[in-house]
Amino acid sequence: MASTQDFNGRWALVTGASAGIGAALARELARHGAKLILTARRRDRLEALAAELKAKGTEVRIVTADLNDPTAPQKIYDATEGLAGAGLAVDILINNAGLGQYGAFCSSPIDQELSQVRVNCEAMVHLTRLFVPRMVQRRRGWVLVLASTASFQPMPYLSTYAATKAFDRFFALGLAAEVARFGVKVTALCPGRTESEFFEVAHAGAFKGKNLPTAEDLARHAVAALARGQRTLIPYFRGRFRAFLIRFLPVGLITRYVEKAARPVQ
Ligand SMILES: NC(=O)c1ccc[n+]([C@@H]2O[C@H](COP(=O)([O-])OP(=O)(O)OC[C@H]3O[C@@H](n4cnc5c(N)ncnc54)[C@H](OP(=O)(O)O)[C@@H]3O)[C@@H](O)[C@H]2O)c1
Repeated sequence: MASTQDFNGRWALVTGASAGIGAALARELARHGAKLILTARRRDRLEALAAELKAKGTEVRIVTADLNDPTAPQKIYDATEGLAGAGLAVDILINNAGLGQYGAFCSSPIDQELSQVRVNCEAMVHLTRLFVPRMVQRRRGWVLVLASTASFQPMPYLSTYAATKAFDRFFALGLAAEVARFGVKVTALCPGRTESEFFEVAHAGAFKGKNLPTAEDLARHAVAALARGQRTLIPYFRGRFRAFLIRFLPVGLITRYVEKAARPVQ
């Protein structure tokens, strides 16, 4: 029976480990005995988390990288599992790094729009392509892909973000079916709004809401789902209900409703 005990002593690479859900996933994996490779751009944040985890006896490495840079995934691979690197067998890949950008598409900074595609999609595919073949060879591995409840319908004023998350979810589901027979498990994690820095980064503070689930609680659900090989996890009832309901509504109707509800105040 698969359990989180399988993570004990294995290397886990967590992207976006400097904040929010990524930091919580790193802590939760460490709690189950995994060794951690933390990556993001903010080295000070990674060092603080590494010090905290090391104090509890976890082996930790840090690789700073900007996933806007198309060469970053290869650099991360080379520094860890690659032949010239540290020779670490990464059995757990957590594709968590991501960002959104709220606002009218036509006036949104183009770099912010493209960064969502690069970080949320391109870098995620690139890292997965680098690390999963070795997992397949070893007949063992776990991959978590951060999708979102935003992956279930178009979201005007977060158009690029929702589209990247639909990509992430479908990619995870397709890959899960491909690699299951080699003992590799892939989970698409689809949280709704969760406490983190996401809304500040996305300039969407007005939509954050109150009493959100914590990243720590989400991470507990996510790591358990990953261990049991659950292909999709929508962690809370509200998100599950929404994803279920949306199946029976015309997509045009939902999109028009979201456009009115989310339209920026002029
Ligand atoms: N919070 C929510 O409500 C929510 C809901 C559904 C899905 N999600 C997804 O959950 C994931 C984590 O988001 P979060 O909520 O934890 O947001 P967050 O607190 O803003 O954390 C985002 C993480 O991604 C990293 N990141 C962003 N751009 C990067 C880049 N160019 N290169 C490398 N790392 C980068 C950040 O690190 P640096 O800035 O240090 O590089 C940070 O560690 C994202 O994929 C997001 O789409 C979040």
